[in-house]
Amino acid sequence: MLEDKFGRRFHYLRLSITDVCNFSCEYCLPNGYQCDTPRDFLRLDEIRKIAKAFANLGTSKIRITGGEPSLRKDLPEIIQACASTPGIEHVAMTCNGYKLPEQISSWVDAGLTSLNVSIDSLDPRMFAAITGHDKLETIMQGIEKALELGIKVKVNAVLMRHFNQNELDSFLDWIKEKPVTLRFIELMQTGDNKLFFDQNHTSGLPIKERLLDNGWQQIEQNKTAGPAQEFTHSDYKGNIGLIMPYSKDFCATCNRLRISALGKLHLCLFSEQGLDVRQFLLDNSEQRLQDELVSLLADKKSTHFLHDGYTGATKHLAMLGG
Ligand code: GTP
Ligand code: 5AD
Ligand code: SF4
Repeated sequence: MLEDKFGRRFHYLRLSITDVCNFSCEYCLPNGYQCDTPRDFLRLDEIRKIAKAFANLGTSKIRITGGEPSLRKDLPEIIQACASTPGIEHVAMTCNGYKLPEQISSWVDAGLTSLNVSIDSLDPRMFAAITGHDKLETIMQGIEKALELGIKVKVNAVLMRHFNQNELDSFLDWIKEKPVTLRFIELMQTGDNKLFFDQNHTSGLPIKERLLDNGWQQIEQNKTAGPAQEFTHSDYKGNIGLIMPYSKDFCATCNRLRISALGKLHLCLFSEQGLDVRQFLLDNSEQRLQDELVSLLADKKSTHFLHDGYTGATKHLAMLGG
């Protein structure tokens, strides 16, 4: 099992398969995806080797991320490659939901076990203002279909003072009958969004206080549960989660490593430039990559430095998959 000097164990890989996105979320790619050079994203055979090397080191969960992963034509094959790797028990994906209704069945057939979808507002006009696309209804249909197919669904809403701060009640109404986990995420500063961050960042703590005052109970979680604090209420079919990266000790339970779509290993969402792992995949063995991973992990820092406005090389989260 991969472990660092702080005793944190890494059983979870976030694997980005493209940094291209068709949305232009205000906090991420406000001017849309822009790149004028051809991109050489990880190929299926490279993804197979990476999955195998991580699985050999104890990884049991892979989350496929982007950009928008569904823009890759070979997405079902990628899901299948991860799901069929011995040792990988969970294949999750985070997406913007744009292609959900038409593609979810093929993803589930390929072995997808859970899905996270970004929905920052339940008001179609506000949704379009945030993402640049009038697609809320399609995405909602896709979520219904995913639930019918029996996979676990989480919905992500980034908290933004001037956009969705007053929508807590409508989100709560929605999950009364909907068995999804709705997570509010504190807006994070990245290299590209400083002004937007200064204007819109707001803490998740008042939401936590409101939930606890209104009969919601915090769910006890084990150390490997991931970044969200989760809350449940007997009158609601869905749960609420809060992801508060600016809170004290957020990084103490970090359990994940990242590989970007260009094949760079990142020990943290906000850190170094990333180390090219493709160079270790050239021969037919995963051993070299495994050895490198074990030694690199010795350098993982105890925490990110977001509190000090330090965003590392991370210009926006689409480049690394969040
Ligand atoms: P699960 O634990 O598998 O449900 O995944 P998740 O909630 O981490 O996945 P998702 O892709 O839905 O991410 C939700 C939000 O959490 C995104 O805004 C991510 O950028 C953020 N996030 C996930 N992991 C980390 C982390 O290690 N550090 C920070 N700062 N943010 C993270
Ligand atoms: N701060 C917080 N969350 C973000 N996401 C993208 N950029 C940011 C940011 N700057 C979220 C998306 C998606 C998840 C992968 O990351 O909304 O749900
Ligand atoms: Fe695309 Fe996700 Fe970034 Fe929105 S947050 S622009 S959906 S990568």
